[in-house]
Formats: sequence, C-alpha cells, structure tokens
Amino acid sequence: MKKSGNDAPHPGPLPARGQRAPDRAGEGPRPLCALTDIPQLGARVIERPQHPDGNVAVFRTAADGVFAILDRCPHKGGPLSQGIVFGDRVACPLHNWSIELATGEAVAPDVGCTRRFPAEVVHGVVYVDLG
Ligand code: FES
Repeated sequence: MKKSGNDAPHPGPLPARGQRAPDRAGEGPRPLCALTDIPQLGARVIERPQHPDGNVAVFRTAADGVFAILDRCPHKGGPLSQGIVFGDRVACPLHNWSIELATGEAVAPDVGCTRRFPAEVVHGVVYVDLG
C-alpha cells in the first residue's frame, strides 16, 4: 500500500484536556497532546509519581517551539513548569534563574543543567520521548 507522504505514526488516542498524561518511559516518542492543548508561553506536566527524577514539563514558546525538560530547576529544584517562558528560555519561579529550553542548561552566570527529552510536533500532535 502506498503511503500518503505522511510517515508519522498515528498518534492514537490522546489524553483529554486536564487528564494526566501517562509516563511511558522506554517506549520511544509517544503522543502527549495536541499542540493547542499547551498554551503559548505555557507548559503541560507529565506526572511521574513513581519516578525518582520527578515530573517532566513540556513547554510551548510563542513561536510554537516545543521543548521537554525535567520539571526541576538545577538550582534548588523549583517547578520550572510554573515559570515564565520568554524566547526559548524559562525563568524559574523561585529564584529567577533562566534555563535554556533546548538544552536544559542554566544561563550564565548561573551554572547547572536539568535533563532534556526529545520533543517534536507532527501534524499538530506533540510527541515526547521519555526514554
Ligand atoms: S530553584 Fe530555580 S532558581 Fe532557585
């Protein structure tokens, strides 16, 4: 059967708005939600209550860039998902460190890094690889 030019896997059912996104580490990129389910300059949290590293925050920039990093600031663990997104960075809500969303690195003069996860948007669906 000839492909239609769309090589992306079918996303399957997406979690409903307000519903917890399941932790599917080790399964490769998985559909999280529609891009429009994440507010511009906002974030959505993948809750991982059993994981020692905690939750993952998925951010959407003003330019519709999507980035996934641990929801834990490299300074003292602040919840980055509650920070302010500007450009491709987020300002931690606790002490205002700036974190590069693409790398998880703190912006100088601060030093530190939080883990990043591959994230992409395919046909309006956000995929995140927690592996
Ligand atoms: S915990 Fe994020 S800047 Fe201090």
